[in-house]
Amino acid sequence: MIIAVDGPTASGKGTIAKQLAAHFGLPCLDTGLLYRAVGYQTWLNGGDPDSEADALAACTFADELLDDPELRTEETGGLASRVSVHPGVRKALFERQRAFAEQPGGAVLDGRDIGTVIAPDADVKLFITASVQERARRRWLEMTGREIEIPLAEIEQDVVARDARDINRKDAPLKAAPDAMVIDTTSFDRDQAFEVVLEAVEQHLGGNT
Ligand code: DC
Repeated sequence: MIIAVDGPTASGKGTIAKQLAAHFGLPCLDTGLLYRAVGYQTWLNGGDPDSEADALAACTFADELLDDPELRTEETGGLASRVSVHPGVRKALFERQRAFAEQPGGAVLDGRDIGTVIAPDADVKLFITASVQERARRRWLEMTGREIEIPLAEIEQDVVARDARDINRKDAPLKAAPDAMVIDTTSFDRDQAFEVVLEAVEQHLGGNT
């Protein structure tokens, strides 16, 4: 069984993907991490994330980079969003994601284009969203918890900019697949969101068997 979990930045899709993977006993891939690795490697190389050639040269990053805590920062998220607009980069990362999706027994993948491009054949497609204000608030809380001081307004601006770049890029833009279940988690906490998602997934699977 393949489960595709897409959605904008800080929508909670990563947490939901991990919870679903644990519930169904499936491996989980955070595909944003791959783009983050390319963005960070581009920076390490002294390259320009807006240059397709520089970003492509960074696609051969070493696997150990995926464990680097620097990949989780806001700055790297911005670099990832910039390198992800290049079609060559998306192509270079396609096979790795597709192979993960196709492994025996299935998998959960979260990202922006899983239900539309990477696994259009997914058994379950979810599009997790929440208001800009709520997503900024969640990210702010997470950063405050890590003792990173940053004004909420700055995070909100960053969320808006990331959304615009992810939605408006030509290649594989962020959008819900026509057959995705769209779930807005604005008014839910983490546990409530998972409860709603699981109910929707089980209903969908029940209806399909
Ligand atoms: O999910 P995230 O914040 O870690 O993703 C970082 C960036 O990577 C995001 O702004 C756009 C890009 N991305 C993408 O283009 N396609 C994916 N499947 C996952 C992430």
